[in-house]
Amino acid sequence: MPVDIAEPEGKALILPGTICKAYNLCMAKEDLSLVYDRDMIDARVATLATEITREYKNLNPILISVLKGSVIFFSDLIRRLDFGIELDFIRLASYGPHTKTSGEVNIIYDVTLDIEGRHVLLVEDIIDTGLTVKKALDHLNKRGPASIKLCVLIDKPWQRLTPVEAAYTGFTAPDRFLVGYGLDYAERYRNLPEIYALEK
Ligand code: PRP
Repeated sequence: MPVDIAEPEGKALILPGTICKAYNLCMAKEDLSLVYDRDMIDARVATLATEITREYKNLNPILISVLKGSVIFFSDLIRRLDFGIELDFIRLASYGPHTKTSGEVNIIYDVTLDIEGRHVLLVEDIIDTGLTVKKALDHLNKRGPASIKLCVLIDKPWQRLTPVEAAYTGFTAPDRFLVGYGLDYAERYRNLPEIYALEK
């Protein structure tokens, strides 16, 4: 029986299921329950793209994907933007092979474009403690962008250890560890087309 979770944006489905069978993941120790299906994700990405277009269409913005987790969301989002943009990437990591952050965020790969005087939109898959995006925003702000805002697919605002707020949010998530659509557990499950809760 699906469990409904009330949310400000979008509604999470929690469907205990047969994902192992469907995706041939039977070697995995974990069970996965469906939370956001393809239609739900597509609808939210389309809405975000409309909102971003409204604000940025005449600004020639630089969109920066926070690797690795945001790469699937990023590629779906940018293909829905039909105006001039430039792309870049930054990689930060803190979780390692665990479901809890280590608290220490490291920049592993930096942007290559000059962002001084440019309008920047940082694109993340998920904000949890906020430590990753805080580090990225502090780092990028030192380079003098004209503006910098945050677009996130999944937010867990109650988990914050530092105050950060996204200008664009796809879903406010249930209190579960999520995988799929770029999100990983110990590097696995990023390639799942939907988003699932990890049940250990
Ligand atoms: C994950 C996720 C976010 C960050 C969110 O990245 O992709 O970047 O954690 O957590 P926070 O708000 O508590 O900082 P991770 O460090 O696991 O690297 P990855 O993107 O390569 O999976």
